Amino acid sequence: MKGVQFLVAFVFLALASSFATASDPSPLQDFCVAIDEYKSGLNVPRNTSNPVGSTVTPVNVAQIAGLNTLGVSLVRIDYAPYGQNPPHTHPRASEILVVQEGTLYVGFVTSNPENKLFTKVLNKGDVFVFPVGLIHFQFNIGKTNAVAFAGLSSQNPGVITIANAVFGSDPAINPDVLARAFQLGQKVVKSLQAKFWWDNN
Ligand SMILES: *[C@@H]1O[C@H](CO)[C@@H](O)[C@H](O)[C@H]1NC(C)=O
Repeated sequence: MKGVQFLVAFVFLALASSFATASDPSPLQDFCVAIDEYKSGLNVPRNTSNPVGSTVTPVNVAQIAGLNTLGVSLVRIDYAPYGQNPPHTHPRASEILVVQEGTLYVGFVTSNPENKLFTKVLNKGDVFVFPVGLIHFQFNIGKTNAVAFAGLSSQNPGVITIANAVFGSDPAINPDVLARAFQLGQKVVKSLQAKFWWDNN
């Protein structure tokens, strides 16, 4: 009797799974199709004519849905001469960066109370790590364009660019708050807010 029950259960499961695969490709199949069809274009230099002189090209779950739950993503970063990827954090990922072309001055700041700055000058092939959540930056100190690639330990790392978030929020943070927080006059705060509000909006 046990054997018959087992056989019935087995046939039922086999049928169910064959129907499931016929009408609903597995997530892995979806992923393979997606990754196969995805054109990253990460070989193509990007336009860096913007106020900071750098452009980040992401490859994360927003570009490849199949990255969901896999805990990895990638960026290409182009830097104009003396361009920078300004201070920012990734709330959900550590980052490992490798320089493909040029020379970058990079760094990150540890959390309170030390706020210790770690920096390094990186040349072609050099690698650096930015731990999850910490404020970090890259600055092209060479006279030529620079290119870096970075891996991130999340399919959805998130980015908070400090200046844009603090001075460019919509609506603006009360200038009294920022004047006290940054120990600046109201005029400076308002000019920064005007600049970054327009950058963001
Ligand atoms: C780069 O971007 C700037 C600003 O948007 C634009 O004026 C310029 O034509 C672009 N250059 C190229 C080569 O696309």
